[in-house]
Amino acid sequence: MPRVFVSRAIPAAGLDLLRPHADLDVWADRLPPPREALLERARGCDGLLTLLTDRIDAEVMDAAGPGLRVISNYAVGLDNVDLAEAARRGIRVGHTPGVLTQATADLAFALLLAAARRLPEAERLVKAGEWRTWEPTLLLGRDVASATLGIVGFGRIGRAVAERARGFRMRVLACGRGPNTDPAGAEPVALDELLARSDFISLHAPLTPMTRHLVNRDALRRMKRGAVLVNTARGGLVDQDALAQALRDGHLAAAALDVTTPEPLPPGDPLLQIPTCLVVPHVGSATLQARDQMARIAAGNLLAGLRGEPLPHPAPAPEPLRD
Ligand code: DGY
Repeated sequence: MPRVFVSRAIPAAGLDLLRPHADLDVWADRLPPPREALLERARGCDGLLTLLTDRIDAEVMDAAGPGLRVISNYAVGLDNVDLAEAARRGIRVGHTPGVLTQATADLAFALLLAAARRLPEAERLVKAGEWRTWEPTLLLGRDVASATLGIVGFGRIGRAVAERARGFRMRVLACGRGPNTDPAGAEPVALDELLARSDFISLHAPLTPMTRHLVNRDALRRMKRGAVLVNTARGGLVDQDALAQALRDGHLAAAALDVTTPEPLPPGDPLLQIPTCLVVPHVGSATLQARDQMARIAAGNLLAGLRGEPLPHPAPAPEPLRD
């Protein structure tokens, strides 16, 4: 049977599909395999089922050796895999698009609402015993209805966020990948215009060399004073030092981040000291349904690759972010 290393215990929905067809070695620890262990366990494998926490580069492919046919990433994002190197070696790469779209869009919207209405600050106040009475100016947030939402990266998840926004009567601007029109009626604009006009900005672009630090000091300066930034895509899209500064000096009202660099943030990280910065631990796709379906898709990709067949969900060719 082909040998496969699975770099964490994914849901049984996926492992059960693999077991009859592969000699599985599953990394059972809660934490990812350290680099040395990843290289060691990849040795001699025909397939790898990897997570976004594993850097899959030429060194790992070398360690696996010439028999490696497929890398199946248990994520839609593929920034942890050296796609060019895999293509050069004829190794197929798969990912898990579609099934986490709604879950991730829900979280983006939950973060937007939480930041708009200052929920983390409100909860901290209650638990600290500081809720004295109803006050006219306690914890004033921002209206969401009729505000403008800018969506950066207009693929599946960006469009799903736009649909939610329309339900909240927001005006929606969009730039980046994806069609220029959508059923939710987003207005396509250039990134600069989006930054200048949006009250809320939600990031949904993949992390590529083109999009790294897309939200840098300059982009933050172009945002409206009092804007709110939501990131459920990848931490690398944002220059976090610049973000911390923009929050401290009040240029941004708040940020809500599901993703950061690194993950997790170290306890002393400046962003964790800023009350208007909400950080959650990369849980965009963390619903039972989404994770089960991701496991099934990842298993399907892996099995197809082991058979030498095209993957049902192959890695897309990297695309630059369009305005
Ligand atoms: C992904 O799939 O890329 C998410 O970040 C985790 O599910």
